[in-house]
Amino acid sequence: MTTSPSKPRILTGDTPTGRLHLGHWVGSLENRVAMQQDFDCYFIIANAHAFTTRADKPAEIRQSVLDITLDYLAAGIDPVKSTIFVQSEIPAIAELAFFFAMLVSFNRLMRNPTLKDEIRDKGLGDNYSFGFLLYPIGQIADILAFRPHLVPVGEDQLAHLELTRETARKFDQLYCGVDPQTRDEDYVTAGGIFPVIEAKLGRIKRLVGTGGPGPGGGLLKMSKSLNNAIFLSDEPDVVKKKVMGMYTDPNRKKATDPGSVENNPLWLFHQTFNPDAAWVTEAMEKYRAGGIGDVECKRKLVDVLVAMIEPMRQRRLAFEKDPAQVLAILRDGTARAGAVAEETLALAKRAMGQEYVKRQVRF
Ligand code: TRP
Repeated sequence: MTTSPSKPRILTGDTPTGRLHLGHWVGSLENRVAMQQDFDCYFIIANAHAFTTRADKPAEIRQSVLDITLDYLAAGIDPVKSTIFVQSEIPAIAELAFFFAMLVSFNRLMRNPTLKDEIRDKGLGDNYSFGFLLYPIGQIADILAFRPHLVPVGEDQLAHLELTRETARKFDQLYCGVDPQTRDEDYVTAGGIFPVIEAKLGRIKRLVGTGGPGPGGGLLKMSKSLNNAIFLSDEPDVVKKKVMGMYTDPNRKKATDPGSVENNPLWLFHQTFNPDAAWVTEAMEKYRAGGIGDVECKRKLVDVLVAMIEPMRQRRLAFEKDPAQVLAILRDGTARAGAVAEETLALAKRAMGQEYVKRQVRF
């Protein structure tokens, strides 16, 4: 077992609904890669959550689980240092979720803005399943099963993390006798099982896509379903095609026209990904004055993105050739994650006075 209890823990993850793209990278993935040195990292692939909206597509979900594992490895997550695991293989998570469901009122759940946005954006109307409503509760269990200190996520997950904080406080107060006046950072030293976790947001809160504005007029965020994403597994030719075709200033007809850099994905991307900040500042000035062409700036962006993505893609290809190794990584991760989650469940049951028989789960 390579868990190192001396390091503080982090837990985060993804719902497997497709490959990971640049928005995932700047929103959270690059943080995770950087944090592996100093934190004991757990990365959950939330396959049960994928079933909440795609129960009719189990084969796609399976493929996505493998794709996300490959994307993690390609991005530089080191499976020796960090633990990558599949949600549905850890029974303690589902068991904790059942108890946590009793600590969140139905009305509180329905006020969750991320849930509301999803119902609207996915056009679920009032046809969503009961299980769909259960997923924020499941996410509380995903997180608290690991009693982490930090949860690195994108901005859209903050509503779920707030619910997680409320649930940790409530459990600790109700079953561990923690005084409600306790400061959030002191819940564990005051005798609580669950820390009141903190979010860690990425460098870029919301990366726009390569397409133009949506119906509301604002630029849309990068998303597979909006068809405006550059994936971490895209080949150089594909990156080139996406960048050369990307939306810029629609009022600019030729390179000598003054251009707008505001709300222009071309410049948002340069500012986010181009390490040559001096070039970016100078080129943006020229662009505003009509002294540099779109094509030249797009070519430069292609070079920047390919230089970043290509090493990842190559690592991915190497792992793709060895599916047995990928499954072995998930198996090891599941064993490590399962041990921690079992320990948490045992603590929670003891606190609730619901220990009756000796339980042994083996992974
Ligand atoms: N809901 C998250 C998403 O869609 C995925 C997720 C599931 C998650 N469980 C988690 C993220 C726990 C952070 C922590 O991206």
